[in-house]
Amino acid sequence: MEETKKRMLSGIQPSGDLHLGNYLGAIKNWADRADEFECYYFMADMHTITVRQTPADLRKRSINQLAQYIACGLDPEKNVLFLQSHVPQHAQLSWVLSCYTMFGELSRMTQFKDKSAKHKDNINAGLFTYPVLMAADILLYQPDYVPVGEDQKQHVELTRNIAQRFNSIYGDVFKIPEPYISKMGARIYGLTTPGEKMSKSIPEGCVFLMDDPDTIARKFKRAVTDSDSVNPVRYDRENKPGVANLMNIYATLTGKSFEEIEKEFEGKGYGVFKPAVGEAVIETLRPIREEADRLIKDKAYLDDIYRQGAERASYIANKTLRKVYKKVGFYQI
Ligand code: TYM
Repeated sequence: MEETKKRMLSGIQPSGDLHLGNYLGAIKNWADRADEFECYYFMADMHTITVRQTPADLRKRSINQLAQYIACGLDPEKNVLFLQSHVPQHAQLSWVLSCYTMFGELSRMTQFKDKSAKHKDNINAGLFTYPVLMAADILLYQPDYVPVGEDQKQHVELTRNIAQRFNSIYGDVFKIPEPYISKMGARIYGLTTPGEKMSKSIPEGCVFLMDDPDTIARKFKRAVTDSDSVNPVRYDRENKPGVANLMNIYATLTGKSFEEIEKEFEGKGYGVFKPAVGEAVIETLRPIREEADRLIKDKAYLDDIYRQGAERASYIANKTLRKVYKKVGFYQI
């Protein structure tokens, strides 16, 4: 039976603490699928150094993020959890694929444009070739699906193009993966900037998984809405983006539809609605925070998971890499 399961793979950069966007856009969807799919999830630490990091912080976040993955429901028995830099095949395949990726394609990537605008003093080659490493991350494992938030769709599409180009020259080496984007949490916006995706770079509008309840309540109280006092809680993405974002968060957490939410808060103002959304978030994150806090203390356990994860991941990754090396003409001994 094992052999027939479809495969899923995804990753998150340990570039900051995990936040509600990562959780609702990615991890929550992964955790629900462990029985249905064969799952590989990793911390993309090699991607993280495209932007300058403090080494001690990166090291700490790389292990804390594993604790948080597990606390979010990713059972290490059912999912292969690993750190990207522990599996050297990522860098190895990335080099080969970079020779099958065009300069023009990489120049069109919106994340590159955004990040190079933000980090003008450090527009390094890694930032530019970042999507090639991401293609290698994915293609090494021959996954059927790559569950990501909306913002990563362009990178997965580029991965498909690279794989198709390679396959058209060498035959069926890579499986062509599908992006897997959930309808609900695909794009969570910042609480203070409802026009921009929630991200750690605007911490006051970003809810971190490890935030304590008071901090979360305060962030929701300050969430940007609008001055509509007649019919406040109404889903209108265009004209009421802040409210739509809060409704989306609430709907994703409670399973309620937008109509049900509109009914629930009929005749009530934002003074009732915003704390209610905050409360739903607090209650969802409470057990995650507590479990992560507990796990972080058991470093030997976490190291062991990383060790086993790297072993299992390398086994699969190596099979693909060998095939690729052979196809492109590298002499085998
Ligand atoms: P990263 O680390 O920025 O984000 C990790 C995941 O969280 C999703 N996400 C969001 N979803 C909804 N709303 C938001 N505000 C939000 N912010 C982040 C992202 O879409 C992503 O799914 N390049 C990737 C990491 C990566 C990767 C891979 C992913 C490296 N290699 C291979 C998949 C497969 C990134 O920077 O995601």
